[in-house]
Order: sequence, then structure tokens, then C-alpha cells
Amino acid sequence: MSKIIILLFHVLLSSELKTSNAQTWVKAGYWFSDTKFPISDINSALFTHLICAFADVNSSSYELSVSSTDEQYFSTFTKAVRQKNPSVTTLLSIAGGNANHTTLAYMVSKETYRTSFIDSSTKIARLYGFQGLDLCWVLAHTFLNMKNMGLLFQECRTAVNSEAKNSNQKQLILTTAVQYSPDIDVNVSFPVDLIRNDLDWVHVLAYDYYTPKLSNYTGAHAALYDPSRQANDTDYGIGAWIGRGLSASKLVLGLPFRGYARRLKNPNNSKSNWIGFDDVEVVRIKVSYAREKKLLGYFVWQIPYDDNWVLSSAER
Ligand SMILES: *[C@@H]1O[C@H](CO)[C@@H](O)[C@H](O)[C@H]1NC(C)=O
Ligand SMILES: *[C@@H]1O[C@H](CO)[C@@H](O)[C@H](O)[C@H]1NC(C)=O
Ligand SMILES: *[C@@H]1O[C@H](CO)[C@@H](O)[C@H](O)[C@H]1NC(C)=O
Ligand SMILES: *[C@@H]1O[C@H](CO)[C@@H](O)[C@H](O)[C@H]1NC(C)=O
Ligand SMILES: *[C@@H]1O[C@H](CO)[C@@H](O)[C@H](O)[C@H]1NC(C)=O
Ligand SMILES: *[C@@H]1O[C@H](CO)[C@@H](O)[C@H](O)[C@H]1NC(C)=O
Repeated sequence: MSKIIILLFHVLLSSELKTSNAQTWVKAGYWFSDTKFPISDINSALFTHLICAFADVNSSSYELSVSSTDEQYFSTFTKAVRQKNPSVTTLLSIAGGNANHTTLAYMVSKETYRTSFIDSSTKIARLYGFQGLDLCWVLAHTFLNMKNMGLLFQECRTAVNSEAKNSNQKQLILTTAVQYSPDIDVNVSFPVDLIRNDLDWVHVLAYDYYTPKLSNYTGAHAALYDPSRQANDTDYGIGAWIGRGLSASKLVLGLPFRGYARRLKNPNNSKSNWIGFDDVEVVRIKVSYAREKKLLGYFVWQIPYDDNWVLSSAER
């Protein structure tokens, strides 16, 4: 009898844990305001999560700031994308590639600055109707920045936890964008332990391994497997994250919806630009890979680059 009760208790407990923690397959897409792509044109039925990019950090108050141009779009983003998909979840992404690196490094460096950032970010997220926050600071790159970023994640979790209790709302989702592999060099890595404890998942930027700015090598810039350069492919990076102790169920694989064109060295080919990009078949292969590895899902960078929704519809 008692065994049955214990068993029943376990079943109840695990089903409750599932409903509160389990995240279903994530199909996320970034929308970046710089593209000026109309929000109302986003085919949100193709996504479970939409990520609105990017809010900034004020360089004197360290509070979250949204430019006056972006404000009109960010404040209505959630309402607009829900027209075509009432159940889509929206996140507000902060920083991004053009953000001021110095300001970010300062912001994470002191507890009072971090608190200003966290409090203002949760407030703006709620004010605009977002259900989560995404920090996009992939180029933190120093031991100290990484350490401080870990503290930020920890304090963010504590803050959203109590904010949810006080406001009687669902806890904000917390995510971050990371490099394809956790290690920057032998001494510097992303704060994997704090990511595991305090974030819901990470967006793995599994692309841009070779860009014309970085190198003249005509390699596939987002190869899943690259037998000749094994440390620069997606499978290596995903394996490295899991190897460092981040569960596959916290990894969301990045798919680039852009390619790079290069002029070839051989004068005989001087008129043929070489263009490397992921087509529909590659998108399908990568989505299957994400499922096989039991990742949480995938995200696309970025929605406006998809012509006629062919890539975003590839999984179906
Ligand atoms: C940054 O914050 C300061 C102090 O609150 C404020 O005076 C200033 O206008 C803000 N700057 C921007 C760009 O929002
Ligand atoms: C970045 O922010 C720092 C202060 O946080 C400021 O001194 C610097 O001028 C800013 N850089 C740019 C390019 O705006
Ligand atoms: C790693 O740290 C060691 C010890 O502090 C130092 O000697 C070495 O130069 C560092 N390596 C890199 C790549 O920064
Ligand atoms: C690529 O090659 C050109 C021509 O040789 C050179 O000027 C350029 O600096 C190279 N770019 C990189 C990123 O190495
Ligand atoms: C990975 O790519 C970088 C930049 O192009 C290059 O310097 C490095 O040698 C590559 N690593 C391997 C193992 O091929
Ligand atoms: C370019 O084409 C010519 C004629 O077919 C050939 O002789 C030459 O070897 C080629 N050059 C290179 C660099 O492949």
C-alpha cells in the first residue's frame, strides 16, 4: 500500500515538474530592427519564440535603454506578432554585435550597476509585454568579463524569481547568446556552471566560422561537420558545450539565414563569385541533427533574410 502511495506521489510530482519546467521544442527567430522589416509581415505561425533585437545599456546609468526610434516597434512587438500566432512567446534581446563593449564590461563589473541593469530590464520587459530577456554579448572574451557575466546571470535569476512572486506573474525566461563552443582560449570560457544553474537556455551562434573579414579561406562558414578543420565546426562546438556539463536540453542551435560571397584568387575564376550559404536541404539536415542530439531546438538569424519563408518552413 505505502509503495503504491509513494509511486503515485512520484508520478504526481514528476508530472508537476514537467508542466512547470519542461520546455517544448523551440523554433525561435530573431527580428532585428535595423532591417526595417515590418513586424506585421513576420509569419509568426512558423515559430514558437520570437526575439526582438536589440535594446541597449545606458553608458552612465547602466539601465536598459531603448532608442526612441525602436521604442514604437518594441512596445508593440508582442501584440503585433500575436495576430498570426496568439501563443507565440516573445523575448527582448539586449546588446548585440554593435553594442558598446566597454559599457557592457562596466555594467557587469559592479553589483550596483548590475542591479540597475536587472531592475530596469525586468521593468521594460513587463511594460512592453515580453515574456523573457536574452543577453547577446558574445564577445565578452576576457576572464574577468566572463566571471562578472556569470554573477549577472545569478543575480538575474534571483531577481526574476522574486519579481514573479511579487507581481504574481510567470517568471521571465532568461537566455543568452553564446559562441559556437564554450572556450575562448585555454584560460577563458563562458561561465558554464552559472549558465546551467540560472538560465533557461542558450542560443548557440553556430556560424561565421570563416567570414571575409576574418579570413580568406573559402570554407562553409557554418559547416555541421568539417573533416579538414575539426575544431571549427558545429558538431565540435555542440559536443564541447555538452562535454563541459551543459545539458543538451539547454542548447538551442543557431541557423544562419545568410551567406558570404568571395571573389576567387584564380584569375580564371575572377568573374565567378563563390557564395557559401545554407539552403533548404542544409536547414533540414541541421534541424534533424538538433533533434537527434536532443537539443532544445533551433533559432534563426534572422527572420528578414528568409525569402518567401522557404527556410523557416523547411522543417515541416
Ligand atoms: C542615460 O541615463 C542618464 C541618467 O539617467 C540620462 O540623463 C540620459 O539621458 C540617458 N541616455 C540615454 C541615451 O538614454
Ligand atoms: C562606449 O562607452 C564608453 C563609456 O562607457 C565611452 O567612453 C565610449 O566613448 C563609448 N564608445 C562609443 C564608440 O560610443
Ligand atoms: C593562460 O594563463 C597562464 C597563467 O596565468 C598564462 O601564462 C598564459 O599565457 C595564458 N594563456 C593565454 C592564451 O592567455
Ligand atoms: C585576404 O587577401 C587579401 C589579398 O591578398 C588581403 O589584402 C587581405 O588582408 C586578406 N584578408 C584577410 C582577412 O586575411
Ligand atoms: C579555425 O579557424 C580559425 C580562423 O579561421 C583558424 O585560425 C584555426 O586554425 C582553425 N582551426 C582549425 C583546427 O582548423
Ligand atoms: C587558367 O586557364 C588557362 C587556360 O585554360 C590555363 O592554362 C591556366 O593554367 C589556368 N590558370 C590557373 C591558375 O588555373
